[in-house]
Amino acid sequence: MIRSVVRGNGAALPRRIMKNADFEGMVETSDEWIVQRTGIRQRHVAADDETTASLGEAAARAALDSAGMTPAEIDLIILATSTPNNTFPATAVEIQNRLGMHHGFAFDMQAVCSGFVYAVATADLYIRGGLVRRVLVIGSETFSRILDWNDRSTCVLFGDGAGALVLEAQEGAGAITDRGVLAASLRSDGAHKDKLFVDGGPSTTGTVGHLRMEGREVFKHAVGMITDVIEATFGEAGITAQELDWFVPHQANKRIIDASARKLGIAEEKVVVTVDLHGNTSAASVPLALSVAVADGRIKKGDLVLLEAMGGGFTWGAVLLRW
Ligand code: ACO
Repeated sequence: MIRSVVRGNGAALPRRIMKNADFEGMVETSDEWIVQRTGIRQRHVAADDETTASLGEAAARAALDSAGMTPAEIDLIILATSTPNNTFPATAVEIQNRLGMHHGFAFDMQAVCSGFVYAVATADLYIRGGLVRRVLVIGSETFSRILDWNDRSTCVLFGDGAGALVLEAQEGAGAITDRGVLAASLRSDGAHKDKLFVDGGPSTTGTVGHLRMEGREVFKHAVGMITDVIEATFGEAGITAQELDWFVPHQANKRIIDASARKLGIAEEKVVVTVDLHGNTSAASVPLALSVAVADGRIKKGDLVLLEAMGGGFTWGAVLLRW
């Protein structure tokens, strides 16, 4: 059977790093509160010349380099983002043009923090369906542009950045030992819209709006939703948590990550945590975490890797793949 195999990965971060202490003169907060409640120590914040498209392009180029490929070999670009450069056209199409690609097709996928997991699962269907052979899957965000910088309960949590994977069709045996995407589960439930949303949009206010979140409410639902969808993914693949090599969760809050791993019985040393470095970069958080763990030699070819995310909507999901 056809499998969607990871051929390369890459990342890009804005030049400017903002430490927790940098917020202390802006809103009533402290490094201690932020670290204790979230595990975040710093985040990257985009300058005017750094956008979702430019960061996404840089991550895509890095992923292509690591795959030893050129844009000419890519058939499809899926960009997961909630902070597109423009309402339309899709920022994926802008990235396609920046890469000098005038063939194939490109589109944006909007599932907030779950966007990258949705995009990998979608790319896998295009590949296994035989429509395309090679897909660039990108998560790129500039949440700094939609934050209310006077709201301490949200502005300290998010950061900007981008990450990307190149997936390629390869023949597999149809076994759990195959490389590539092995299982995926996606969920959403719009009944939770008011707990995490942006208070503007083209069809309502005609503005971009700002991120609003009832953090405590989101936290309350997060662990249960994450662990349920992961159990479903394990069930589909016929594996247990003990067989995993790496757990690469969405990086929103260290306490959510720890509680989810504990509930699933995933050992602490198998959990990739980068929320301290990047904050919550929404759809970019999982590919950014992947890039750190690949670069430092933890994730290696043949490792069994679980990706997971949960975000606004609510949306949530998990992807199991062999690197
Ligand atoms: N500095 C100091 N104090 C603060 C800050 C801050 N930056 N922010 C809030 N507080 C205060 C609150 O006002 C509150 O004060 P009060 O008790 O006087 O009312 C107190 O700290 C405790 O607030 P809580 O909201 O209960 O704090 P909690 O421990 O829940 O942590 C947090 C807040 C970090 C937001 C947490 O709830 C969380 O991580 N929630 C989930 C976020 C998440 O996972 N989002 C999903 C993905 S994001 C996406 O999809 C875009």
